[in-house]
Amino acid sequence: MTTQIDVPALLAAMTLEEKASLCSGADLWHTRRVERLDVPAVMVTDGPHGLRKQAADQDHLGISGSVPATCFPTASALGSSWDPELVHRVGVALGEEARAEDVAVLLGPGINIKRSPLCGRNFEYLSEDPYLSGELGAAMVEGIQSQGVGTSLKHYAVNNQETDRLRVSAEVDERTLREIYLAGFERVVTGAHPWTVMCSYNRINGTYASQDPWLLTEVLRGEWGYDGLVVSDWGAVDDCVAAVEAGLDLEMPSTGRQSPERLVAAVRDGELAEAVLDRAVGRLLQLIGRALPGVESDDAYDRDEHHALARRVAQDCAVLLKNDGDLLPLRPTPGSRVAVIGEFARTPRYQGAGSSKVNPTQLDTALDALRAGVPDGVTVDFAAGFGIDTTEGDDALLAEAVALAGDADHVVVFLGLPASAESEGYDRDHIDLPANQIALLAGVAAAHPRLAVVLANGSAVAMADWVQHADAVLECWLSGQAAGGAAADLLLGAATPSGRLAETIPLRLEDTPSFLAFPGEEGKVRYGEGVFVGYRFYDATSRAVSFPFGHGLSYTTFGYDDLAVTVLDQDDAVAVEVACTVTNRGDVAGKEVVQVYVGDPEAAVRRPERELKAFAKVALEPGASQEVRFTLTGRDLSYWSTRAKGWVLEGGAFEIAVGASSRDLRLTTSIEVDAPPIELPIERGSTLAEWLAHPVAGPTVRSTLKNHESGDLSGLLEDADLVRMLGSFPLNRIIAFVGLSQQGLDELVVEVNGG
Ligand code: BGC
Repeated sequence: MTTQIDVPALLAAMTLEEKASLCSGADLWHTRRVERLDVPAVMVTDGPHGLRKQAADQDHLGISGSVPATCFPTASALGSSWDPELVHRVGVALGEEARAEDVAVLLGPGINIKRSPLCGRNFEYLSEDPYLSGELGAAMVEGIQSQGVGTSLKHYAVNNQETDRLRVSAEVDERTLREIYLAGFERVVTGAHPWTVMCSYNRINGTYASQDPWLLTEVLRGEWGYDGLVVSDWGAVDDCVAAVEAGLDLEMPSTGRQSPERLVAAVRDGELAEAVLDRAVGRLLQLIGRALPGVESDDAYDRDEHHALARRVAQDCAVLLKNDGDLLPLRPTPGSRVAVIGEFARTPRYQGAGSSKVNPTQLDTALDALRAGVPDGVTVDFAAGFGIDTTEGDDALLAEAVALAGDADHVVVFLGLPASAESEGYDRDHIDLPANQIALLAGVAAAHPRLAVVLANGSAVAMADWVQHADAVLECWLSGQAAGGAAADLLLGAATPSGRLAETIPLRLEDTPSFLAFPGEEGKVRYGEGVFVGYRFYDATSRAVSFPFGHGLSYTTFGYDDLAVTVLDQDDAVAVEVACTVTNRGDVAGKEVVQVYVGDPEAAVRRPERELKAFAKVALEPGASQEVRFTLTGRDLSYWSTRAKGWVLEGGAFEIAVGASSRDLRLTTSIEVDAPPIELPIERGSTLAEWLAHPVAGPTVRSTLKNHESGDLSGLLEDADLVRMLGSFPLNRIIAFVGLSQQGLDELVVEVNGG
């Protein structure tokens, strides 16, 4: 029988010391127990693409091992699936494994925005786009939690680099926060209700996320209605009293007796209200109550089935960036020879380093899978080509690879980033592949006219200086323990690529939006590019890229027809219905990702050219068509106004584009949306122009001028140049001109604001 947790009764029965003890962990992975009252401890483990269950006393940075678990594709790969259903299925499998291991909460997903390709942890994040991150993050949370296992949505918020991650202050304006860095969290919190949210290490505008009442209480709970638990990232709490006060419930890992004693003292001294402590403890008890049925169950999972799932998922995550002359799939015929070149074909790179590192249940290699997958009579030979732990070239390995390629009918080169190039804990300082790999590719290309490159890397690499050597490029990211099998399936045509880029591949590091401000200096990192992150920046600055956001090819092609867009006014809320028909125009089955972008060409603030607001992944047999429908909301057309302190929908024209990538827009149209004019609160310091534009204040100023002591001055407002010149003056600086006293102005402010 499952232990029952009666939160109010337990809170009433606990001593102050017991309550304070529950607000921090017992060790690295467990909450504390209260034996006297039968409150059990529960276990949390990393996440996010596989279970990393360690013994209680082991490290959390991926140094020691963990129990075997399926290593699914990492978020870099899952993001490229653009497939919430698929991500949900992965979530279900992760939940099953967590249940089987009696784990209460899986510490993921991570949905931080990929602000720069340099971030060492990008392989753990989904996208440069908040909408895509939010949709896929929500699917993962729902999948895991459907198994009665909790998630920890992380790292909340603005944790977009590893450099100085425990102290750095992200200096970012509210509009950018709302539209880019919080939007994905908002989507997951409001739609999928994660049991826990993990606050990040960094500060935001000077305040530690772990101690930020605006972030943890006002926005998360107040605005988004979150009712779960907030846990700290491991070691993120600087002052446990400030943290609990701000809305943090559980500090991890254990700090021994330190934090409990400090909390007890703070309550005794009146520094912290006991009710605030109770709130945190109540949430922890609620979490334990939710988790216990799963933890106390006797479930198991089928490892082979999960491995097979990992392979299917990895197939759908790979992005075919280039396929000149339909080089892929290879279609080797009996008697032909396939040259497999590159150490990664034999020694796969399939996950990243740090706290997310999983001990896989088994591991495919592309070399073995290709050998198993080719028809009888096809020879598959291998040459390593380069060493993976060095950037130095090796003449003997190069010569061997070149000779093999020269004699082969088909050549596939496996390249990627060495494990040491990207990891939790540090950032990269360039985005290039190791020099020895580029040299190998050039050598092999000289020996064989056509070759395919398969990539394994956790975040974007520059391709401009080598991509001309490859007729085909298959970007597999870090795709989990079955990545090798999936790559072979795709190369041989047993599966058709359907991944799309969730991040732009820039031409050069210097082109990236945060190039001049990453990773910051002297403890601060300025988010000066604002909302212009990823494709929003490249599009706004008309910058060429290697491959745009949303791009990905298939072994078939798709046609787009019949765009129909209707603006509806439903119960005073705007809704835009978008429909189009997609057709598979080739002769193999394939999946297309239909992407809907919205642009607002005339706005009071500078907005991106276009932003992703909906997408759908559609599977189509050869020749088949399907109508795809989307509904956009008023919020999808809105921006965050810092002055209005809210989302603003400005009436006027919007551009709706449907396409196969952010730069392959197949159907576009413009719509007119009606919306009431934005009414900013009128203050003493509002400018003359703002007063005049206000529906109530404008006529009032006009009549004040009409009744001016020097006569009717309202005619001055007909002089457009004068109004333009004086328009920027705050009204309180020109009260004599408009004929008001200071007191009269105060009264007017009250009047126009409806006071
Ligand atoms: C990471 C988290 C992780 C935690 C526990 C931290 O260093 O930032 O993502 O969940 O450790 O391992």
